[in-house]
Amino acid sequence: MSTDRKPAPPPRRLTDESPRVTVFHSDRAAARALARRIADAVAATPSLVLGLPTGRTPLALYNELASLAARGAADFSQVTTFNLDEFVGIPAEHPGSYRTFMEQHFFSLLHLAPERIHFLNGAAPDPAAECERYEQEIARAGGIDLQILGIGTNGHIGFNEPGPELDARTHRVTLRPETRRSNAALFGGDESGVPAEALSMGMGTILRARAIVLLATGASKASCVERVIHGRVTTAVPASFLQLHADVDVMVDEAAAAKLAR
Ligand code: PGA
Repeated sequence: MSTDRKPAPPPRRLTDESPRVTVFHSDRAAARALARRIADAVAATPSLVLGLPTGRTPLALYNELASLAARGAADFSQVTTFNLDEFVGIPAEHPGSYRTFMEQHFFSLLHLAPERIHFLNGAAPDPAAECERYEQEIARAGGIDLQILGIGTNGHIGFNEPGPELDARTHRVTLRPETRRSNAALFGGDESGVPAEALSMGMGTILRARAIVLLATGASKASCVERVIHGRVTTAVPASFLQLHADVDVMVDEAAAAKLAR
């Protein structure tokens, strides 16, 4: 029986030097390729230390990883994780917390060892001490082997928001209005219910990871991706600092790649 379904086009590599850009025909294809890369890294180093993001973008990645784990194709039981950020002023169990998001979409599906899951505590009585504790935990784990990142439409990574300067270390941050807006869904669609502050790994914390992968999909990311790849390094686009790291992959779909030079 004939079928007119065409094979999916292969990924296109745009640059060979870090940041290496690879364009996939769909967001699903990008998520699949990144899931495979993570699974391969865990197979090679079962005790891998992974840095993880929240957001809509990594959902497809976490689904792919969960199905690899369910099929027995990946074993995350020895993996250590550090999440990038958390809201200030809400407990971990709050339905809008990033911790709850990760429990629902990743931790509970991949059977991680609870003692190897690391998270910033947004309800800590002394946020500065909490940030310092996190830096020390990362150092004690031997540093982050592979840091996965999403990107905000304003160019933020983690909650390192655009501004006149950036913090190198894990720190407390005031969220920009556009960032609170894009997180409203976690708080019943009410932007004013999104906490005004967060704790976030700093730019130096992120850049100390041995390898970094930025996943960006959808047309809303096309402008910031273009600035990250072709623009100058500037605190106005925090992700542009990834140009300073020697091992960065940027994995995008066609929509997010729309403004890149071909
Ligand atoms: P998104 O968020 O994946 O929901 O677009 C990305 C981010 O803000 O880092």
